[in-house]
Amino acid sequence: MDFTWEALTDAERAQAYADWEAGKGLIGGDPRQRPGSHLLPAWGIDQPFFRALALDDARGDNGAALRSLLASARPLEIEIGFGRGDFLLDRAARHPDTLFIGYETKIKATRLMLARLAPRSSPLAPPQNLWLSDDDARFNLPRVVADGRADVCHVLFPDPWWKNEHKIRRLFSPPFVDLLAAKLRSGGLLHFKSDVHEYGELVRHLVEQQPDFTPHDPTQAARIGEFAPTHREQWCRRHDKPVWTYYFVRR
Ligand SMILES: C[S@@+](CC[C@H](N)C(=O)[O-])C[C@H]1O[C@@H](n2cnc3c(N)ncnc32)[C@H](O)[C@@H]1O
Repeated sequence: MDFTWEALTDAERAQAYADWEAGKGLIGGDPRQRPGSHLLPAWGIDQPFFRALALDDARGDNGAALRSLLASARPLEIEIGFGRGDFLLDRAARHPDTLFIGYETKIKATRLMLARLAPRSSPLAPPQNLWLSDDDARFNLPRVVADGRADVCHVLFPDPWWKNEHKIRRLFSPPFVDLLAAKLRSGGLLHFKSDVHEYGELVRHLVEQQPDFTPHDPTQAARIGEFAPTHREQWCRRHDKPVWTYYFVRR
């Protein structure tokens, strides 16, 4: 395992920003060139950049619908890497007045989420407040969500990408933390979980080094309240594995 961000030299930090600028490590590559992108219906705010999959308005110009929702004063929560969607579906149902955007680059997972949402008669019938994109959030967020717009950003059990050669794919890097700081409003919350303690501590270190975030504050758990665990968290509970949860407030 190689979690060396803590020892980042200035040169390595500069390299992280250069890689970010060059789009290196984007999951699935540049979404505009992704093979198989036709497998999901795509409507764009700003095609070809954004693929917002909204079920409540499948035939309409839901790009415009989402754009106007984003321009409204409704609270906004974002989940990056929703996987099977258990947490996001539950949260969107519990908070109907809040707008939710979920990102998940795995096309299979996104299709599963759409299937879970589809039957109007099911208890998971689409909440009108939930929008999905299969873009890499690092590509999409800067293009879609205005700075200071988000109230909460959830990043739950991101892959740690253990191997040195895969490190570039790790979600958390200095420019990614800058992106979260830019999109969260003052007082907004970054909610992060991991079942890999070293990775959790690496993320804590990276976030706490960003001057726009306060140090991890466990009392912020009250802002999340009751929730449905993600698939990974369910697995941890079944196997009695510990989970580390962190809360960082945007200053
Ligand atoms: C280990 S899984 C955890 C999924 C879910 N949060 C859970 O706890 O069960 C991490 C997920 O994040 C997704 N992911 C990773 N990087 C992403 C990115 N940049 N944008 C959107 N999704 C991403 C992956 O495709 C993967 O499904």
